[in-house]
Amino acid sequence: MALGVTKLEPIPTTPVTSRWRRIVTPIPAPASIPLIERLRAAEPQSMAGLPPILWDQAEGFLVRDRFGNQWIDLTSGIVLANAGHSHPRILEAIRSATEQRLLATYAFPSEPRLNLLERLISLSPITNSKAILYSSGTEATECALMLMRRHGQRIHAQKIGIVSLAGHYHGRTLAAHLASGMPQPTDWIERGQVQHYQIPAPSSPTSSEGKSHDGSCGAECFRNGIDALAARGVGPERIAGLILEPVPGTTTMPLPHDFAAAAAVWAKQHNVLLAFDEIQCGCGRTGKFFGSEHLGVTPDLIILGKGLSSSLPVSAVIGHSALLDLPLPGEMSSTHGGNPVCAAAALANLQVLEDERLIDAGARTGAAVLDRLRGLQHDFSQSIRAVQGVGLFISVHIRKSGTDEPDVELADAVAQAAVRRGVLMFTTGRGYLKFTPPLCIDLEAAVEAADVICECLTERISQK
Ligand SMILES: Cc1ncc(COP(=O)(O)O)c(C=O)c1O
Repeated sequence: MALGVTKLEPIPTTPVTSRWRRIVTPIPAPASIPLIERLRAAEPQSMAGLPPILWDQAEGFLVRDRFGNQWIDLTSGIVLANAGHSHPRILEAIRSATEQRLLATYAFPSEPRLNLLERLISLSPITNSKAILYSSGTEATECALMLMRRHGQRIHAQKIGIVSLAGHYHGRTLAAHLASGMPQPTDWIERGQVQHYQIPAPSSPTSSEGKSHDGSCGAECFRNGIDALAARGVGPERIAGLILEPVPGTTTMPLPHDFAAAAAVWAKQHNVLLAFDEIQCGCGRTGKFFGSEHLGVTPDLIILGKGLSSSLPVSAVIGHSALLDLPLPGEMSSTHGGNPVCAAAALANLQVLEDERLIDAGARTGAAVLDRLRGLQHDFSQSIRAVQGVGLFISVHIRKSGTDEPDVELADAVAQAAVRRGVLMFTTGRGYLKFTPPLCIDLEAAVEAADVICECLTERISQK
């Protein structure tokens, strides 16, 4: 189900004043409506699915409008501000980069680009790595898909197929889009025609040890998917690469170890490359720098974005030098990739994550939040199917009472009610709530936000 356009009718609120939250107007703030209406007149409705809050300032884990309201931010923008919004050291890095008067260099040699690349290579679990920088996540996905196809083509002209997991997300440009989502009839291009294929993602959540509860979501699930492709005439000799999110943004749970291990063994056996899209789950979001550390599998390519800078547009593809060196000079680059100001912001962000030990902090805070939200699940087990996640990558899956069907209406109503109480959340349009604040969030603020979710859910359920 897609998100609807959010309504612009102000709903009265009860004033909220806590150490972190302040709500003093109806939501949306009446004075914000003319500007939001102008935005809606100027841009497509695809941009109008989120709670209508006019962001004026975002600092740390707080977001403010200009009408006196302040929220604890559980969105991190779109899971991007891992180090926190407007971190002073990132701001300083951006300031000094602009004072250098070097705002763009394309692929000409530049030191900020070198510094970031060397840092990424030092973090990479892939031997003999190189890396390339882009601006958006989807661009980096395209690069990874192109590299996998080039690798395959060197083996055999027909070995260009890309396999992805249904429901995973990789971006909105053509190939990234084809690798994303569900195989629905509304797809504007038939995947098979361009050698993109999907296999089912593991169906059930994993146990806390990362093992599948049963074969249906482990190695057997992977093999069934691959067998079904072979039955359609798509054998591994026609597949160049497999792309997946090691910790998908929809489930916020690592893929089962046995699923990932089976995929890695199969890929190696058939000379298929494995790309892990860590655009959302990477850079500390899950309590480890790379989400794939939860799986115990090292891929051939890692794609980063979002939390790589916690701010300006930076993304990256990391992989073995032999693979990244397949395209010839001039064949793989981007005007803004490695932009010096963006690269400086990303480098400062990586340093902040390390110096402030934000990844460990996020893991500790996440555990406390899970604890609080699981209490709620215990009280409302008919309506809450799962509370799950790793680090500060947490999701609450709401169901229609006693069934396994997602309750989209209830989940989005709870998110909107939380926004009216000073906790900024996404409406997902898919029956779950996402708890993804900046990793720097104060533990008490995170628990306070979890309490607000509990209040809103309790009220909504008892009104039903
Ligand atoms: C897992 C994943 N891959 C790719 C993308 C696309 O990134 P971008 O929106 O920067 O193009 C996203 C963005 O939400 C994502 O979460």
